[in-house]
Amino acid sequence: MISAELIKKYDVPVPRYTSYPTVPYWTDSPTSEEWIDHVQGCLAPSESNISIYVHVPFCETLCTFCGCNTSITKNHSVEDPYIETLAKEFQMYYDSVPELKNREFKELHLGGGSPTYLSEDHLHKVVYNLLTKLKVSDSPVFSIEVDPRRTRKEQLKVLSDLGFKRISLGVQDFNEEVQKLINRFQPYEKTKFVTETARELGYNSVNFDLIYGLPRQTESSMVNTIEKTLELMPDRIAFYSYAHVPWIKPSQRLFTEKDLPLGPEKRKLYEVGRSLFEQSGYVEIGMDHFALKTDNLWRAVLESKLHRNFMGYTENKTDLLLGLGVSSISDSWDAFHQNEKILKKYNKRIGEGKLPTLRGHKLTQEDILYRKLILKLSTSWEVEIPENIFGSVRDFLITMEEDYLIHWENNHLKVTDKGRPFLRNVCMGLDFRLRAKSPESSVFSQAI
Ligand SMILES: C[S@@+](CC[C@H](N)C(=O)[O-])C[C@H]1O[C@@H](n2cnc3c(N)ncnc32)[C@H](O)[C@@H]1O
Ligand code: SF4
Repeated sequence: MISAELIKKYDVPVPRYTSYPTVPYWTDSPTSEEWIDHVQGCLAPSESNISIYVHVPFCETLCTFCGCNTSITKNHSVEDPYIETLAKEFQMYYDSVPELKNREFKELHLGGGSPTYLSEDHLHKVVYNLLTKLKVSDSPVFSIEVDPRRTRKEQLKVLSDLGFKRISLGVQDFNEEVQKLINRFQPYEKTKFVTETARELGYNSVNFDLIYGLPRQTESSMVNTIEKTLELMPDRIAFYSYAHVPWIKPSQRLFTEKDLPLGPEKRKLYEVGRSLFEQSGYVEIGMDHFALKTDNLWRAVLESKLHRNFMGYTENKTDLLLGLGVSSISDSWDAFHQNEKILKKYNKRIGEGKLPTLRGHKLTQEDILYRKLILKLSTSWEVEIPENIFGSVRDFLITMEEDYLIHWENNHLKVTDKGRPFLRNVCMGLDFRLRAKSPESSVFSQAI
């Protein structure tokens, strides 16, 4: 167990480093035309490949803890126009980037919100449109985020027939009192049913999203949630630290902050979970992620292929990550591009035949270097620091070195076992944009 003193020292607001530069430090936004040039540029080599992320923002009810970009409605008439708009958005890319037609389409991820808000027919239309227009890889990776409360066998079957083999279930916590406070009623039996049905249908990787740090979680409630999880043995577990950002998500004020486990108490919940997962054969992959050794994510670790992007840890890096749908982020490695975050604005822009560019960032050569280093560190707990910045990075991280959280072998930086909870803090040493200028207002959640 790490000491309360260390937690006090390092439990500061830090980015999650799903991108570098992190979103508040995006300064040089591409125009829509420039963004198309970046897409063309990264697909210029004939061996380049593509992944697509489709964001479905709708959920029927609001979970009070939720930090995602959502649109809450029980009125399913929103489905039709949304999937039409998605198709139009994709067509704009398709018409302006000829390379899209003949580059390998490797990965498709449906996320949200809740993609399973859509009917079977609509899910089929969204995916089929992409499959018929792109050159699908021989071994594609198709995955979907599923809300177990809002899915059916028929839905999972449609997706499995389309080639989906990965499924991620939002579980969060099995405790009834916690569920009540987060406005999410999800009986264990429901999660069990979806897990077993998915496996019967041939899904070969089931992930559970769990969160530690939710209101009224205690060590014993956490043990209970983990034990129930272990009965179902998902192949992967995302064990997220609850990100409390009420200045961005006011619904997080709907429970009282006094009920939130903080600092050492919160960290203890993670350690209780980690120890039970490790006893059951899971390996800690990186920040907050665990996998069984039979899962491809572990294979990616062994083959040094593990990648991290806006969706968390993935097995591969593709040349283009194209984000479709409201608020989606795309990545051409040398540029980021985010769509309008407000549904009305997103719809309006596409309706006018324009890409719904909200913001983005064209990376400088320095950004690309730091991006590579942060990626290496966050996917392998170690990284070789180039000579020209070594002195500066070592100075910045000196207290972490003195506290045995990191260790140097010449220029080689390694995170110690004791330092693992503070991986995000170590990444900050390579975040030269943040080091040059602290954010002006609260933007990041706490490290712990
Ligand atoms: C799009 S949701 C998953 C799919 C589906 N909507 C559901 O809830 O079942 C993505 C995941 O983000 C995580 N998440 C959302 N808000 C969070 C927060 N404030 N802190 C940490 N994790 C959060 C949750 O674990 C959630 O399952
Ligand atoms: S956790 Fe999932 S279901 Fe709940 S509001 Fe967020 S996106 Fe919607």
